[in-house]
Amino acid sequence: MNRRKFLTIVGSSGVILAAAGIGGFVATRSPVSALQPWKSTNSGYPDPIRRALSYAILAPNPHNRQPWVVNLKSDTEAILGCDLARLLPETDPFDRQIVIGLGCFLELFSLAAGQDGFRAEIELFPQGEPENRLDTRPIAHLRLVADAQLVADPLFAYTLQRRTNRNPYDTTRPVSAQDLEAIVATSGPAVIAAGTVAGARLQRLRDLSQVALRDEINDPAAFGESVDLMRIGRVEIETNPDGISIGGPFLETLGILGIVSREAMADPNSSSFQIGLDMADEQAQTAMGFVWINTLGNTRGQQIAAGRAYLRQALGVTSLGLSMQPMSQALQEYPAMAGHFKQVHELLAETAGERVQMLARIGHADAVPPSPRWALSTRIRQTS
Ligand SMILES: Cc1cc2nc3c(=O)[nH]c(=O)nc-3n(C[C@H](O)[C@H](O)[C@H](O)COP(=O)(O)O)c2cc1C
Repeated sequence: MNRRKFLTIVGSSGVILAAAGIGGFVATRSPVSALQPWKSTNSGYPDPIRRALSYAILAPNPHNRQPWVVNLKSDTEAILGCDLARLLPETDPFDRQIVIGLGCFLELFSLAAGQDGFRAEIELFPQGEPENRLDTRPIAHLRLVADAQLVADPLFAYTLQRRTNRNPYDTTRPVSAQDLEAIVATSGPAVIAAGTVAGARLQRLRDLSQVALRDEINDPAAFGESVDLMRIGRVEIETNPDGISIGGPFLETLGILGIVSREAMADPNSSSFQIGLDMADEQAQTAMGFVWINTLGNTRGQQIAAGRAYLRQALGVTSLGLSMQPMSQALQEYPAMAGHFKQVHELLAETAGERVQMLARIGHADAVPPSPRWALSTRIRQTS
């Protein structure tokens, strides 16, 4: 969040933030259990399937809904399903982005298993691909096979450092063409990946992302979906370690003072709402490059492939000391996005039927903490 602007508002409303005792308060506001999954990967799991899953749950996924549910079959076998209560019907009406997030999960599962000496055999949609909406059929059947010949993927080393970084990016530090090439090269052969770090196309994508994000914030149903998932302050984050976290001592103090609240965020006349719009502008206009992932159609399998490629790109970005944030609004299929959707495809898709699945900005930025996760044990529904 933009501290300078918040402080202006706080100052003008006469509230003195440096209230007595705030130092002690500050020291206790970092979530603990919500971040534990980033610290307990691998440790203490005797079976290879849980070891690999303990990394997979750190995958990027839309609105941090963490829709994965796992039915363990044995120490080396599991069924991955989707929790249908964790979909995003307003902004993701065909569950396309949810499936991309499950693709990220599968790629991380595979990388982690490889590091542990196991080849991940992943059978997608073993009971058939759902069409318009996901249903109760499984996403994938997972089997681990010990393989002494396996060469672990060096990208895995960046798993615990990867973040989605929503800070403004440093406009004095361009991304080199060489770095862009390296990021695109991580994507793998199953998708069409490309990017830009300069010129008219970069500015065009900044403008398009900015307008699309503004239009989403101004669409009450779409933005309401985000607002409902905001977790404000440590207690809310620890209770529901998913969704959009608004944490840290500064924002939490504003929450306690009533300046930051779900009601204020959703109210177009509030300062919080206006600041949300300003932040959207800043995110889009400080993009120092964009990378995108296209597929030649839009099957569920292609959406999974896009997710696998995105996870690899994100690790590639991390390995280069860069930051990344998807800017997905123009790719979404709800009515307010229709014009942006058309434009982004005119700009980035080469052939008819080609689908832009992911679009993310890249650049240099101040670091951000990891985002919360539900513990692995809570995502395992049953053991048979
Ligand atoms: C398909 C997909 C779409 C996403 N779209 C956005 C987006 O438009 N804006 C954004 O800030 N983050 C977006 N994200 C990032 C998620 O919000 C992020 O992965 C999640 O909150 C977990 O945080 P982490 O990546 O730092 O672990 C997207 C992620 C995925 C997989």
